[in-house]
Amino acid sequence: MNEHVQPASSAPLFNPLAPEFIRNPYPHYERMRTTDPVHLTPLGMYVASRHAEVSLVMRDKRFGKDYVERTIRRYGPKIMDEPVFRSMSHWMLQQDPPDHTRLRGLVVKAFTARRVEDMRPRIQQVVDDTLDRIIPQGKMDLIEDFAFRLPVTIICDMLGIPEDHREAFYTGSRDGGRLLDPVPLSPEEIKQGNASNALAAMYFQQLFDLRRKSPGNDLITQLVQAEEDGSKLTNEELTANIILLFGAGHETTVNLIGNGLLSLHRNPDQLALLKARPELITNAIEEFLRYDSSVQLTGRVALEDIDDLGGKRIPKGESVLCLLGSANHDPAVYPDNPERLDITRPNVKPLSFGGGIHFCLGAQLARIEAEIAISTLLRRIPDLRLDDAVNAEWRPTFVLRGLKRLPASW
Ligand code: HEM
Repeated sequence: MNEHVQPASSAPLFNPLAPEFIRNPYPHYERMRTTDPVHLTPLGMYVASRHAEVSLVMRDKRFGKDYVERTIRRYGPKIMDEPVFRSMSHWMLQQDPPDHTRLRGLVVKAFTARRVEDMRPRIQQVVDDTLDRIIPQGKMDLIEDFAFRLPVTIICDMLGIPEDHREAFYTGSRDGGRLLDPVPLSPEEIKQGNASNALAAMYFQQLFDLRRKSPGNDLITQLVQAEEDGSKLTNEELTANIILLFGAGHETTVNLIGNGLLSLHRNPDQLALLKARPELITNAIEEFLRYDSSVQLTGRVALEDIDDLGGKRIPKGESVLCLLGSANHDPAVYPDNPERLDITRPNVKPLSFGGGIHFCLGAQLARIEAEIAISTLLRRIPDLRLDDAVNAEWRPTFVLRGLKRLPASW
């Protein structure tokens, strides 16, 4: 990365919300991989930073989510009375089999590679409409005006959110990311989380009623019908997983587009290469995912005592955080300078979408959205320049890594 400053050797190894960590986590990751690759933090969590352990933990059945137990251990027994934590406990992302299998099975068909391929013309149309509106202005914020609209529109299409309800989602806050960070939330943040959760739940309950009366060809109709069946999912699970799909479906993709565009502009040779050879875009997207992943971490809990994970013993019930961004920069897997952006790099297989049974449901959708968004932007505004590619402003969250804004002009 351009901002390659070595962390002081006395600094804590893993301090993910420190401003210098957020600005550029990669030197910190390098230090973790080389000095303590399965690091026990003062908060009692193990942090895996090498590709080998990250990849193993996500796939090994001796690890699971155990969300309720883990959250109670961190916050105390009353935490599950907080609506936002109750809601998250029903996300498929936080469930172990058999509940995970049941919930994922209800929606998986909408995300198959084939179904997503069929969405290409619609994705292209949304990108073109956005650019038609913006090009005459001569400048924009690539995050707010460009990257944000596409995934929100597409997930609204998939869920069946009527066109005239969408303005609130385009202008809504993007502050939910703190809920995912591996540092306990303050009472104020829990209050805010409860309020946004209540607002979303209220909106979706009304939409569920509408779809019970007038079904559509969309995911909400499909899930409402499964709920009416009585045995497939409860009303709480329905609401929670729609909120998950809505959130997971946009913030991450906005950040893939934003982080990808920033890294291209910080590496003008790669930008010129992609403009000259647009067919490299598919590999370029994999490299963007590897180089600066929009999701930096996922976690698992040891469901039994683990004798040896990278030289450490992990007792049953303990959490292991998997640093996806660090695994993606591990020289053991990417021997040809992992800190360099190389859109022609062979065998790029980033762990940015996780792994095992929780492997990201929207991976193929996100790839195609980013591919169409970035290649169309480069083709239609070839003289676009970032106002300031050096001093990027990052959002203050760690799990979700993305920019606050990315002003550009042409
Ligand atoms: C660049 C974009 C994206 C990234 C980097 C990303 C990353 C991830 C990661 C790391 C996980 C957790 C995997 C694990 O713990 O093993 C995940 C799960 C998930 N993602 Fe994504 N995601 C992206 C886009 C999307 C989109 C567009 C959608 C939906 C429209 C989506 C829906 C989900 C869902 C539902 C899960 C939970 C799956 C499960 O638990 O079985 N994601 N994603």
